[in-house]
Amino acid sequence: MNKKDKRFVYLDHSASTPVDPRVCEAMLPYFSETYGNASGLHQQARGSARALDQARRMVANYLGCSPKEIVFTSGGSESDNMAIRGVAWAQKLAGKGSHIISTPIEHSAVRNTVDQLCQHFGFEQTQVAADERGLVSPTAVAEAIRPDTVLISVMGANNEVGTLQPVAEIGAVAREHEIPFHSDTVQMAHGLALDVDQLKVDLLSLSAHKFYGPKGVGVLYLRQGTPFLAPSTGGGHEENRRPGTENIPYIVGLATALNLIQQELGDEGPRQAKLRDRLIEGTLAAIPAARLTGHPTRRLPNHASFVLPGCDASAMLMHLDLLGIAAASGSACSTGMPEPSSVLLAMGLPYELALGALRLSLGRGTTEEDIEYALEAIPEMVIKVQALA
Ligand SMILES: Cc1ncc(COP(=O)(O)O)c(C=O)c1O
Repeated sequence: MNKKDKRFVYLDHSASTPVDPRVCEAMLPYFSETYGNASGLHQQARGSARALDQARRMVANYLGCSPKEIVFTSGGSESDNMAIRGVAWAQKLAGKGSHIISTPIEHSAVRNTVDQLCQHFGFEQTQVAADERGLVSPTAVAEAIRPDTVLISVMGANNEVGTLQPVAEIGAVAREHEIPFHSDTVQMAHGLALDVDQLKVDLLSLSAHKFYGPKGVGVLYLRQGTPFLAPSTGGGHEENRRPGTENIPYIVGLATALNLIQQELGDEGPRQAKLRDRLIEGTLAAIPAARLTGHPTRRLPNHASFVLPGCDASAMLMHLDLLGIAAASGSACSTGMPEPSSVLLAMGLPYELALGALRLSLGRGTTEEDIEYALEAIPEMVIKVQALA
C-alpha cells in the first residue's frame, strides 16, 4: 500500500462510538446552566428534574415501556450487575430457589456476576451451550429449567462474534415457566430497534457509548412486578432501585443519542449491513484461510468477525494500527501472554485458531472508501503477521 493513500479508518464501534455532536450540544446546558440536584425544591432543581423526566420518557418511548420501568445506571456493566444480583437476591429471599440459567458467551459483566453468586452466595448455574455459530437454542434453555430456577440471562447480541440470539423465543420459554428473563442488549441498540414486549424480556441492559452517547451512563429496563432487591443502597433515587444523584447531562445525552438512533435506523441499518457484507465477502475472497466467526446471517448489521489461522491477534491489531485501521480482537492480552477468547472456545473453535481473532465493527461514519481501504490493508497485514510466526 502506498504511504500517500493512508487514511484513518475506525472499525471498532462495538467497543465504543464517538459522541454525536448533536448529543454534546444537548448535554452542554446541564453542566453549568441547569445544574441543580433533581431532588431539590427550587427552580434550578426543577430544571434538572424536568430534563430527567423527559429523558426517561424518551427512553421508555424507544423501548415501548412505561417511564417507571426505566432505571438510569452508570453503563452496561452496572445494568447487568443490577439485573442479576437484584433478581437473584429477591428470589432467594422469597424462597423461590437459587438456580440461574445463562450461557458461556455472555459479557464478563454477566458471567462474572453469576460466577460470584455461585462461588460465594450459594447459587448454582447451568450454562446453556452456544453452537459453532454462537446461537443458543430456546429448547436447550427450556430443558435447563429446574423447579428452583429463579433467573434466565441470555444476551441479545454477542459483542465478539455478532450473533443475534432468538431473544423473543427464549423470553417465551421464560414466561411459560414464570421465570424472570434478562437480556444484555448493549450491542443491539446501535443498529436495531428494541421493544421490550416483542422481545419478551423482563430486564434489559443498554449502554450509551455504544450508540453515540457518552461513556459512563446506561439503562436498566425493569418490568413492573419483577422481583428485585436493590444491590446498592442510599437515597431514594430511581424509585429506590439505584441510589445516587442523577447524572443529568449524561442521562440527557443518552436519551438524545437513543432518539437519533431511532430516527436514523431505517437508513443506517441497511447501509451498514451492505458495507459489512462487502467487508466479509472481500476478506474471505482475499484470504481463503480466513473463517467468519458467528452466524453468517443472524448477525449485527455493523459487525464482521473472523479468525485468521497462523496470525496472532495482537500482532494483527498492531499492524492494522500502523496502516491507520482501528480494529479489535476477541482475545484479551494479559502479561504479554495471548489468551484466546473464551467465547470462541465455548463455540468449539480450536485453541490455536481462536488466537487469531479479528473484529471489525462499522458505524455511522464508515464509508465505502473506508471498506475498500480496509480490504486492501487486511491481506497486506496478514502477509506481514504470518511472516512473523
Ligand atoms: C455485550 C456487552 N455488555 C456489556 C458491556 C459493558 O458496557 P459498559 O462499557 O457500558 O460497562 C459491553 C461493553 O463492551 C458489551 O459489549
